[in-house]
Amino acid sequence: MRVGVVGVGHVGLPTAAVLAHIGHEVVAMDSDTSKIAALKDGVMPFFEEGMAELVATGIDAGRLSFTDSAEVTVSGAVAAFLCVGTPPKSSGEANLLAVERAAEEIVKVATGDLVLVEKSTVPAGTAQQLTVALRRHRTKHRFWVVSNPEFLQEGRAIEDSLRPHRVLVGSGSPEALAIMEEIYRPIIEQGAQWIATDVATAELAKHASNAFLSMKISFSNALARLCELSGADVIEVVRAMGSDPRIGTEFLNAGIGYGGYCFPKDLTAFERLADRFGYDFGLLREVKKINDEAVEAVFKKIEDVMWNLQEKRIALLGLSFKPGTDDTRLSPALRLAEMLLEHGAQVVGYDPKANANAQREVPGLEVADDVYGALQEARCAVICTEWPEFAELDLGKAADAMAFPIVIDGRNLMDPDAMDEAGFTYIPTGRPPRGVGPHPD
Ligand code: UDX
Repeated sequence: MRVGVVGVGHVGLPTAAVLAHIGHEVVAMDSDTSKIAALKDGVMPFFEEGMAELVATGIDAGRLSFTDSAEVTVSGAVAAFLCVGTPPKSSGEANLLAVERAAEEIVKVATGDLVLVEKSTVPAGTAQQLTVALRRHRTKHRFWVVSNPEFLQEGRAIEDSLRPHRVLVGSGSPEALAIMEEIYRPIIEQGAQWIATDVATAELAKHASNAFLSMKISFSNALARLCELSGADVIEVVRAMGSDPRIGTEFLNAGIGYGGYCFPKDLTAFERLADRFGYDFGLLREVKKINDEAVEAVFKKIEDVMWNLQEKRIALLGLSFKPGTDDTRLSPALRLAEMLLEHGAQVVGYDPKANANAQREVPGLEVADDVYGALQEARCAVICTEWPEFAELDLGKAADAMAFPIVIDGRNLMDPDAMDEAGFTYIPTGRPPRGVGPHPD
């Protein structure tokens, strides 16, 4: 089938590559012509494991192409996937202007009946509003706006798109649902659950999923605070809780908090949405508050151990909001860097993929070419992102490089016994600290 994809960001590009991989003829469009030119030359706009290879294979097979033209994107297509950004407004509500514009542009040049697929995260009611707005254009062909929320995680976007747990499509039209089911048939045949609902339910399910996952993380972070006060170990508490299949252990890792471009903004947008319908979803505010406290708790640990922060060199290991990506948007590591810089510390970071993005976002931040470079003469190191290479550090070399061997583990990545044996003062999250000696200064 021929399909168009509008927007080649973190959702659009993996979606286009995977739709081409499962046999469709895909034209992906973006209004950013430099991005399109780079993609035609095989240069990816961001790092995502396996994506460059999948894009190259799609292009070579003649099933994937890139354009900045709406006409080319939609010519002969049965569906157009809208994957443009929905950035937050100052109120926290999602800004849907890009979605409206992209849909208008596409519908006006459609060459036949078309399914417009909302893939960007949008509030419930968007499809209905979009339908009303588009009908004003008196288009030649029929169109249906369906909701098909994306659940992919950055860092595993290709795997999540190829083998998702479920394909959720919301539409009131059996015709549109049939087209969507046909597009996803190869993925459904591989075991993904096909869930068809009405549009508002699908839209709400996306927000609800992200909010629920954020809530799990915040629950663990609140638990971590309590464990620190009571001497319990949050990892063991979660292990004990998670052995009950009704709870499970996933997304209960306490640490420096969640970041990225989805959880923080979607949570606020969800709260605004509830407000609009007159429901005070106070639980969501609490989730955000606990998440803010998670990064503040790490800052407080640094202050407790370093006393004055002015001019002290502090290393941040990991700058992306999670491992496997170079994305630093709303990364707690960068929030921490800003707090430390505001207090006069000298902050040096290292990330296997995100150094350049981090420096662009936080100009005062120094970055090092490797992890030992970041640790050199540091009085304290903070693990902000659980990149596997940090777990494999040569601990002796790391301790020698540092001015004081003090590690605050914002992701509970390291083995406390190994850290203790290597002579570190080791301060994890929600677990008993190790080797805490007299004040270093
Ligand atoms: C999320 C959703 O998981 C995905 O389904 C949705 O489509 C988009 O938003 P993503 O933002 O890529 O995906 O990352 P995710 O892996 O969910 O992690 C989000 C944040 O939570 C990261 O900062 C991560 O470090 C943090 N996190 C995750 C925790 O702090 N603890 C955990 O147990 C899990």
